[in-house]
Amino acid sequence: MILKTLTLITLASVFILMFIGGYVSASGVGLTCPRWPLCPAGFVPMQEFIIEYFHRSVAATTALLVFITTGFVIRSRISPRGMKIASIIASCAALGQISLGAIVIIERLHAVLVTIHLALGLVLFAMILIAVAYSFKLADKKPTTSDSSSLRTPTTSS
Ligand code: HEM
Repeated sequence: MILKTLTLITLASVFILMFIGGYVSASGVGLTCPRWPLCPAGFVPMQEFIIEYFHRSVAATTALLVFITTGFVIRSRISPRGMKIASIIASCAALGQISLGAIVIIERLHAVLVTIHLALGLVLFAMILIAVAYSFKLADKKPTTSDSSSLRTPTTSS
């Protein structure tokens, strides 16, 4: 249940982040915040770079959610191998996106880099979607006889 909720929240966060990223790109405000990792006013949001500031803040929150999800999936004994691999790839993609975000700004929105940034975002989304699918499968799974046997009350032998 925790895995299902966590993966769904993370997926929603990645989706919203990609939506904001698309808006940053389409409205041409990608360089309004020319420094990295913080904008010129530090943690203070200012109107001249509010959209880019929003993209970075949501990116930081999303990356944290991805890492927490990966931690949960790896530590969980019931999560299948495929789910673990997908969440590890998602964490690598999140790390890659943050580094690439910096390079995109340093290289002043080089077209190839922005395209890779979009592609890696898609990889991240796909991996979390796989984790969500696995978590639904796990939640639907009925306990097997061996699982339920531990729940039975012990019988007294006469
Ligand atoms: C998990 C993290 C991130 C995801 C999933 C993500 C996703 C995206 C997406 C989907 C776009 C739109 C690309 C396009 O339409 O071609 C975008 C644009 C952009 N992102 Fe990110 N992003 C992330 C983190 C960051 C970070 C940390 C930074 C900078 C510090 C950053 C800087 C930018 C910039 C500057 C653009 C606009 C590029 C342009 O104007 O064409 N991103 N992002």
